[in-house]
Amino acid sequence: MRRCVCPGSYDPVTMGHVDVVERATALFDEVVVAVLHNPDKQGTFPVPERLELLEASVGGTAGVSVVEFGGRLLVDVCREVGATAVVKGLRSGTDFAYELPMALMNRHLTGIETVFVPGDPRYGHVSSSLVKQVSAYGGDVTGLVPDVVRDALTALRAGG
Ligand code: PNS
Repeated sequence: MRRCVCPGSYDPVTMGHVDVVERATALFDEVVVAVLHNPDKQGTFPVPERLELLEASVGGTAGVSVVEFGGRLLVDVCREVGATAVVKGLRSGTDFAYELPMALMNRHLTGIETVFVPGDPRYGHVSSSLVKQVSAYGGDVTGLVPDVVRDALTALRAGG
């Protein structure tokens, strides 16, 4: 049984995330999507809503589970869920520069490996922060995020 963790803030989940999680299921028997958050920071969506949006987006895919951990090291989360690898998507060299030190630190801490998946170019311009900004000012993010996330972003704009 090979299990990986796809970690992130998922504030909110985008189609780029969904693509990476689905591709991870081809590489691992089980994929644990872990919402890692700092309990001292609010974020845009409360953690329970991030989990609901993830469940609606990837929870129905065989082998995928969604969990959350506050104030924990990723390596400890991996140990707790019994994962042997972390899977991350890379959209660009900038992502790689950001991710490489974290991957090396995580391997230093427990020996866990990070598997990088090249992001689908269809979503190369998609990030949680950009879709929030576009939607907040009335832009259409259809196709860049799951429909439930688009609707949640619209509700946010409307004030609830
Ligand atoms: O979606 P994000 O914001 O790029 O995700 C970053 C995340 C949550 C994966 C990263 O911040 C993380 O691993 N946080 C857990 C705390 C930790 O282990 N920090 C040390 C990493 S070297």
